[in-house]
Amino acid sequence: MPGDTKVTVYCGPLSWFEEQLGKQADESLLDIVYARDEARRLFKIIAPAHNESELDDLQPKRPKRMVAQSSDYASLSEHVITNFAGLIRSINPKHVHLHNPPAHALAQLQRAFPATVLKRYEYPAVTRETLIHFRDGFADHLVGQATVMQKLLAALYPLTTARQAKPVVLMFYGPSGVGKTETAQFINGLLGGTLMRKQFSMFHNDKFASYLFGGTHSEPSFAHDLLDRESGVILIDEFDKANPVFHSAFYQLFDSGIFEDKNYSVHLGPSLIICTSNYGSEKEIRDAFGDALYSRFDSLIGFQPLSRDEIIRVIDKLAEDRFVKLTQDEEKQLDLGDLKSLLYPLADKSSNVRKLGKTVDELISLILVRSLLDEPQSTGVASTNAG
Ligand SMILES: Nc1ncnc2c1ncn2[C@@H]1O[C@H](COP(=O)(O)OP(=O)(O)O)[C@@H](O)[C@H]1O
Ligand SMILES: [Mg+2]
Repeated sequence: MPGDTKVTVYCGPLSWFEEQLGKQADESLLDIVYARDEARRLFKIIAPAHNESELDDLQPKRPKRMVAQSSDYASLSEHVITNFAGLIRSINPKHVHLHNPPAHALAQLQRAFPATVLKRYEYPAVTRETLIHFRDGFADHLVGQATVMQKLLAALYPLTTARQAKPVVLMFYGPSGVGKTETAQFINGLLGGTLMRKQFSMFHNDKFASYLFGGTHSEPSFAHDLLDRESGVILIDEFDKANPVFHSAFYQLFDSGIFEDKNYSVHLGPSLIICTSNYGSEKEIRDAFGDALYSRFDSLIGFQPLSRDEIIRVIDKLAEDRFVKLTQDEEKQLDLGDLKSLLYPLADKSSNVRKLGKTVDELISLILVRSLLDEPQSTGVASTNAG
């Protein structure tokens, strides 16, 4: 019967949507729309002598379970999205499952099909256990930055309470390569899911405007990315690279966890938003961002440059991590102590450890390839540039 379509809408990551659907056979909304477009182009002549029932065969069968994923809407034309409820009505499936549809498509469906069921994914919450794992595991992941751990524990605490309905918004600041992104990854790892990481330096101004405010529904957008995210943590890297004209776009997100653009709308709830910048002090941030934005950060967490001893510890850690991944044969060619002492001079060169991991890999490969080709080993490799 037309009009008895059941509509279920899912807001959350794709993996969860697929899990919700299970393994039953589905028909894709896109396939059906393409088939209808194709059928419209066909011109059929039916001779009157033909059996009437053949006419029925030409009618498309009513789909049982029709499905559209978050990325599918981009393939539909704007006017189809504008009249989305009309499209669903004319296809008339028994049940349609929609993943992260555009906001006005959802609003239309809720009017046209008042029994529409809306399901939201529950992102993993920060609990007391998360804080314990964070405290106990911090030193294994990050060298130094002891005040960071204390400040972060305090900043994360509100997320463990039922009172908190909005996100906690943090600003990590400090020089490059001292563990800001690594810390965000570590917290996210405790909660699970691939970290949603946006690098604002990647956008030019005109593209950035449509990314933030929404362009056509098929263009990439921040709100859509937020809807699709897998992780409880949202990392906005290089926040300082966003032009100040865009700052006001974040006020509502930081205040209440709601982000709306032209096409999509997302409600974050008690999640964790981490922004990073290379400023050196809170005063610099306040001067650069202005009070309106500055005051919206729940906590500003400064990362210190690493001391020489701390860099030595990073080198030890990197060398040990790599060493255990070698095959037995490779291990025989390489002495861990020698490897470390070849690397230590790098600690005098800079406090940025960003490239150390790569340097360690290069050095290991160099030693291994030399022993493979049976050349005498030179010790001059520590001059490999650590940047
Ligand atoms: N304090 C630290 N302890 C251990 N490793 C670190 C530390 N800081 C940086 N690193 C290493 O350097 C790399 C770059 O660090 P990252 O967190 O991306 O720096 P940034 O502060 O620029 O975000 C990481 O992969 C990490 O392995
Ligand atoms: Mg970083």
